[in-house]
Amino acid sequence: MIRFLKRWFAGAKDADGEDLLSKVRKGPIPRHVAIIMDGNGRWAKKRGLPRVAGHREGMNTVREITRAADELGIEILTLYSFSTENWKRPREEVDYLMRLPQEFLHTDLDELVRRNVQVRMIGDETHLPDHTRSAIRQFQEATRNNTGLILNFALNYGSRDEILRAVRRIIEDVQSGKMDKDAVDEAVMNRYLYTAGLPDPDLVIRTSGEIRISNFMLWQLAYSELWFTNVSWPEFRRDHFFRAIEDYQHRSRRFGAV
Ligand code: IPE
Ligand code: IPE
Ligand code: MG
Repeated sequence: MIRFLKRWFAGAKDADGEDLLSKVRKGPIPRHVAIIMDGNGRWAKKRGLPRVAGHREGMNTVREITRAADELGIEILTLYSFSTENWKRPREEVDYLMRLPQEFLHTDLDELVRRNVQVRMIGDETHLPDHTRSAIRQFQEATRNNTGLILNFALNYGSRDEILRAVRRIIEDVQSGKMDKDAVDEAVMNRYLYTAGLPDPDLVIRTSGEIRISNFMLWQLAYSELWFTNVSWPEFRRDHFFRAIEDYQHRSRRFGAV
């Protein structure tokens, strides 16, 4: 009986967010966490709801995980929100996704400002609808001088697209004589990517059971730790997030050395 109670108590404690938070706080905190937020559509389908209901629910997870990242003192949280391939989805789903930044602005800007969060975007802005771009601009302007967590949305982001764009601009600068061909090294490449100035992700999380990268940060993930879960994004809670960080803390990162 006592053993049972002990185990129950330990279990309850372990499942408790605050306890896990204080445990994780004692270990090394990754500077940059990137998340491939996946499984919104399947979450909705399982409940007999339209796919967009999953995206709506996923917004609540964005809020919860942003708060958790902020509490942990993570420097950068990158959220893969829309890929360059996601345009292949039905028009109404794409339209819905493109309206989410505007909605998130209304519901969350005040809190993000209060939390000293700086909102940024990586990806090809030029092909986004005006209302989406305007929401992003408003976020950026309102949080520009904030010095806390960088909340980085990857929107119309594709890694191959990003690399090609960088290569084209490097060629331009070499051809115009602004830069010498032999000066092109990894540091230069980093400066031409959307992620210029940001450290590479230390940890990448993908929800919903798919074990792939789906054109996400192919250059930047060279030495990132990867963490996959079957939990869908709408069901992903702060405890899952802390669990991922806890796992990360037990990894031995060697970067090719011994
Ligand atoms: C992730 O969920 C959100 C985006 C890619 C925009 P999905 O919409 O991909 O959900 P599934 O993978 O179809 O379940
Ligand atoms: C990756 O998810 C893109 C985002 C999370 C925004 P997808 O659902 O588009 O990826 P695939 O199609 O399963 O590879
Ligand atoms: Mg998906």
